Amino acid sequence: MAKHPPPEARQYDVVIIGSGAAGLTAALNLAPKFKVAVLAKGQLDGGSTAWAQGGIAAVLEPGDTFESHIEDTMVAGAGLNHRATVEFVVENAAAAIDRLAALGVPFNPGETLSERWHLTREGGHSHRRIVHVDDATGWAVQQALLSAAKAHPNIALVPDMVAIDLVTSAHVEGERFAARACHGVYAFNSASRLVETFVAKAVVLATGGASRVYQYSTNPDGSTGDGIAMAWRAGCRVSNMEFNQFHPTCLFHPTVKNFLITEACRGEGGQLKLPPSVSEAASGIKSGSRFMQRYDDRLELAPRDVVARAIDAEMKRLGLDHVLLDISHLGAEFILHHFPMIHARLLELGIDCTVTPIPVVPAAHYSCGGVMVDLDGRTDLAGLWAAGEVTQSGLHGANRLASNSILECLVFGQAVADDIAALWDNAATPPAIRPWDESRVTDSDEEIVVAHNWDELRRFMWDYVGIVRTDKRLERASHRVKLLRKEVQDYYGNFRVTPDLIELRNLVTVADLIVRSARARKESRGLHYTTDYPKLAAVAKDTVLDPVSGRN
Ligand code: FAD
Ligand code: SIN
Repeated sequence: MAKHPPPEARQYDVVIIGSGAAGLTAALNLAPKFKVAVLAKGQLDGGSTAWAQGGIAAVLEPGDTFESHIEDTMVAGAGLNHRATVEFVVENAAAAIDRLAALGVPFNPGETLSERWHLTREGGHSHRRIVHVDDATGWAVQQALLSAAKAHPNIALVPDMVAIDLVTSAHVEGERFAARACHGVYAFNSASRLVETFVAKAVVLATGGASRVYQYSTNPDGSTGDGIAMAWRAGCRVSNMEFNQFHPTCLFHPTVKNFLITEACRGEGGQLKLPPSVSEAASGIKSGSRFMQRYDDRLELAPRDVVARAIDAEMKRLGLDHVLLDISHLGAEFILHHFPMIHARLLELGIDCTVTPIPVVPAAHYSCGGVMVDLDGRTDLAGLWAAGEVTQSGLHGANRLASNSILECLVFGQAVADDIAALWDNAATPPAIRPWDESRVTDSDEEIVVAHNWDELRRFMWDYVGIVRTDKRLERASHRVKLLRKEVQDYYGNFRVTPDLIELRNLVTVADLIVRSARARKESRGLHYTTDYPKLAAVAKDTVLDPVSGRN
């Protein structure tokens, strides 16, 4: 490829990396005062937000209380949550939902005169408190936020721009400081195939989670933990990476691998069952017996970690490749009214869920760990804030409560914007930044290395660092991560970047952080379950990894 001079740096007041619920909420709250760029690595609606089904949790019913939502969040989180964060998010939830409604999100209306909106229920919630737009809430939220952002003259939306690394003090012209402050981001423009430099006084990471580090996931392809890896390389601490949430009910299908069946199906009475035995099947029975009663008194509405482990145990015990989720007894009218998108998608795949149970398996769904932030969304690096699934804010603890995630994006997206505005007058003007240096790399002649390493990584993460862990499996995973890290580093050092290579480099970093965190936790808590340490430790402690000191 011919060499081009590096494109001139693009200057904004604030650069936000990520156009999901967190990034766009921050952008809309900053735009009245500042020039903002919002980067997305593919399409603007390509993140997890657009895929969310169940809804958003908030205390909205007369019988419900903040204390109850806080308590449910802490129970699901197995006591590792930071209470101040939980209170902050729960108490700001209703206002965040009001703002979405004002932007035009058509939440389903209440079914009685006293209810403003219809509230559904999900596992771990002791009240109905989830507002939703049928079973496709995220799509409605994403479209409303995007329309508002597109209409704002101060917001530049920049799709197909893959952030590679944060610009820090180490990239300042003429200087070689350690990473003491963040001044922008280097990003690969997928259209021009050139690396661009974005410079700003404030940078916000809103890049979503890392569940695509696993072979089976409910997430879009882009959930590769880019923000976590970039922040780590820039010197920020990350925390609680061992807590990756597995959603209990992802569709089991030969070709469609990442279609979620919302937890609201269980909230409204859906039952988990074993597949029918040979004799049951012969007499036309479509499903076998229920099994959750053998695992938890809350049955199908136990928190996700409990339900996912129960399904995993049944699949291993009986050698099954899936179990069944039966909603047929709810009746066709109810199903079509409450779950129209799921019903239609399953029909396209030849499954009529009004009469047939749905084959399901657990799949990686949500990263509870991430970049450490305080209540203002500040990271360890001056000039760098973060919000949403990329963070570990203290809200989720060892296991996220259903429908608390978009809520966290909305509350922290706003908090970050408020903090940036409050600090603005004292923020330093960015220095001159060195352009991206491609002088020592060539085009790759071996793309197969990337594809192969990608598959290998996801497979061993699924097999060795999945729902049930052991010391031995984690050690195996650790060896493999080391080998891959070396290979990918060599490759990265010699070849021009591509979106696939950028993602693979980040996935290897994230896998390493997950394995290190899992090995450091000598107990079973929430989503981290190991047969070598099956008990809960007396004291709940975050796993904090520090790239500067190298200490856990
Ligand atoms: P995302 O919405 O994932 O957005 C990430 C953004 O970052 C994207 O724009 C992406 O392009 C960009 N990005 C990433 N890397 C780069 C890079 N290197 N360069 C440039 N841009 C980059 N939560 C709930 O609360 N309720 C639900 O009902 C619910 N249902 C869910 C259903 C599914 C199928 C899934 C997958 C998740 C669900 N969740 C739900 C979780 C929730 O959707 C996510 O946690 C949340 O939307 C994350 O929002 P975010 O803004 O942090 O990131
Ligand atoms: C779902 O609808 O089951 C997903 C909800 C969530 O992840 O919070």
